[in-house]
Amino acid sequence: MKTSSLSLSAATALLLAATFAATTVAQAPQAAPNVSPPPRTYPAPTNLKVLPKTLTGQQVHEIMEQWEGSLGAKCSTCHTADPNNIGPNGRPRLNFADDAMPEKSTARLMFKMTEEINKNYISMIDSSGAGVTCGTCHRGHLGPEPYVIPPEHGPHPPMGEHPTDEKPQPPK
Ligand code: HEC
Ligand code: HEC
Repeated sequence: MKTSSLSLSAATALLLAATFAATTVAQAPQAAPNVSPPPRTYPAPTNLKVLPKTLTGQQVHEIMEQWEGSLGAKCSTCHTADPNNIGPNGRPRLNFADDAMPEKSTARLMFKMTEEINKNYISMIDSSGAGVTCGTCHRGHLGPEPYVIPPEHGPHPPMGEHPTDEKPQPPK
């Protein structure tokens, strides 16, 4: 008898707890809905000379992030800081439309070159369609690194010799 009355009161306690929890939840003041911050907006570009002028600020930004990553660069590698426009962090903002950085001019040249490589050459071959991008050459470096040929693919030894051949020892 003792056991069943115990489990009965346990059940009651559980039911009470559940009811209490439900009531508490129902009465809890409505928490602010979990809204994500409004999407960042990017101003429309004003000084495009090689990218399509129809691109939105958002599209330009996405391309810039690709260039930045492919070159292992920063926005400030190609864009000048504007000392008259100080941001909330106390540092000057970048003037993206300004053309003073030589790296920006080089990047324009590189973009045209990449487009020509794809249009005039890669398109001629039966390729996967991957094409050439900034990253094909740059691989995360501002200045592409020279390719070092692995030793097993290095220059072949002269005819008759083989890397595993024992070197003739000079007479003692
Ligand atoms: C490798 C150089 C390079 C890097 C790195 C780079 N940019 Fe650019 N950016 C350019 C070039 C070149 C243009 C101009 C493209 C053209 O003339 O069509 C440009 C244009 C822009 C524009 C449009 C400006 C206008 O009003 O015409 C914005 C905005 C911009 N970049 C933002 C960024 C941001 C943000 C980053 C970093 C995430 C960045 N860029 C990194 C080279 C670079
Ligand atoms: C076919 C290979 C190739 C492709 C594709 C390529 N680059 Fe380059 N890029 C080079 C080489 C090589 C150099 C170094 C030239 C030198 O200084 O000897 C270079 C140099 C640069 C520099 C100057 C770096 C410095 O040290 O000042 C910038 C900026 C640049 N590239 C941006 C780009 C961007 C942006 C793209 C894509 C739109 C791109 N490159 C695509 C090969 C390439």
